[in-house]
Amino acid sequence: VNGHSGTQPVNPINRKKLASWVGFSNLPNQVHRRSMRRGFNFTAMVVGESGLGKSTLINTLFETKLYEPKQIPAPGVDRGRTVQIESISADIEENGVRLKLTVVDTPGFGDFVNNDESWRPIVDNIEARFDAYLEQENRVNRLKLVDNRVHACIYFIQPTGHSLKPIDIEFMRRLHTKVNLIPVIAKADTLTEEEVVLSKRRVLADIAHHGIRIFQPPQYENEDEETIQENEEIISKVPFAVVGSDNIVRSPNGREVRGRAYPWGVIEVDNEEHCDFVKLRQMLVRTHMEELREHTNDILYENYRTDKLKAMGVSQDESVFKETNPAAKQAEERALHEAKLAKMEAEMKMVFQQKVQEKEQKLKQSEEELYARHREMKEALEKQRLDLEDKKRRVESGRPLTPEKGTKKRFGIGK
Ligand code: GTP
Repeated sequence: VNGHSGTQPVNPINRKKLASWVGFSNLPNQVHRRSMRRGFNFTAMVVGESGLGKSTLINTLFETKLYEPKQIPAPGVDRGRTVQIESISADIEENGVRLKLTVVDTPGFGDFVNNDESWRPIVDNIEARFDAYLEQENRVNRLKLVDNRVHACIYFIQPTGHSLKPIDIEFMRRLHTKVNLIPVIAKADTLTEEEVVLSKRRVLADIAHHGIRIFQPPQYENEDEETIQENEEIISKVPFAVVGSDNIVRSPNGREVRGRAYPWGVIEVDNEEHCDFVKLRQMLVRTHMEELREHTNDILYENYRTDKLKAMGVSQDESVFKETNPAAKQAEERALHEAKLAKMEAEMKMVFQQKVQEKEQKLKQSEEELYARHREMKEALEKQRLDLEDKKRRVESGRPLTPEKGTKKRFGIGK
């Protein structure tokens, strides 16, 4: 995807063979050297009920004692659980590659009397990190952006063997559009093999039913066979059934391994036949860390940013385009001007029609008055004509003229 609209012409690719070595094949090395110099950073968040082994798993993943072991308290005493969102960073180095690892530990939820809103502080924390990044992007000086966004969220599911609990579903639904969700079945050593299989099936069915999007290695075209197979193996293990331990124990064949020793045997953390820890680490650290960072930046953060700017009434792409493109700005101004003219014209038409109507009304009224007066005059004239004809007949017949009303009295005619 190149970000251009589909209406733009696509330049045909012209494949050419170079006559000699130009040097751009060295680009991956240049990127490699720059990355080595700058180092990487990665922020992982762990979410889940208290005591599910979040801190232990992080220590196991990065083979670092990021978290000091929590004291196992005397009965009745609080065992020192995480009570607020904590963020721990460590600079770790492997074969000259530096990684600044930050782990955001969240208080175990489900511990409170009212768990309805226990997702809120976690969503707030993720959004606050997006906001901090957005604020840096909006600064004039954007040279050194510090990326504290959460790149992956390991979600711990209780090893009950059952489906997801309502609180798990609510949580994942709130989180899946903001962070790469990686569900894991915690403390898998407490389940039998069949229970693990059944539990995974139920969890996946729940996830699909509720339309929750979890992170899975993307399958690209042109990928080599080995990578395709690797990705398929990872996908087949989701949700990862994990066991965490930062203790070294002796396996039955005498090897020293990271694991948990039980009276009936030893669970090896790094043994793929015992749990999915290796596959989780492979995806999170060895093969898909960059993918997780990219997906966070390109999809999750981008969606958040667009929604945020839209809510502020800014269609950001449009405004940036106009800022940087004078022709687009002019076109917009012309369109505005034309719209203003059209509005004025419509208003003038309306006023004109109104005036014509008023005039017509007035003309009609005076026409009616004229007719009425004409009728009156005609009637008066007709009356006069009749009177005169009557007088004429009397004169001709020798009869005396009947005095008009009132005349008799005035001249003493009659009694
Ligand atoms: P909070 O900080 O309260 O949220 O706890 P947490 O989820 O960080 O759990 P933590 O890592 O402190 O582990 C709690 C207890 O579970 C410790 O006694 C661990 O030794 C034990 N534990 C951790 N991982 C596993 C595991 O995979 N299997 C088993 N059986 N126990 C584990």
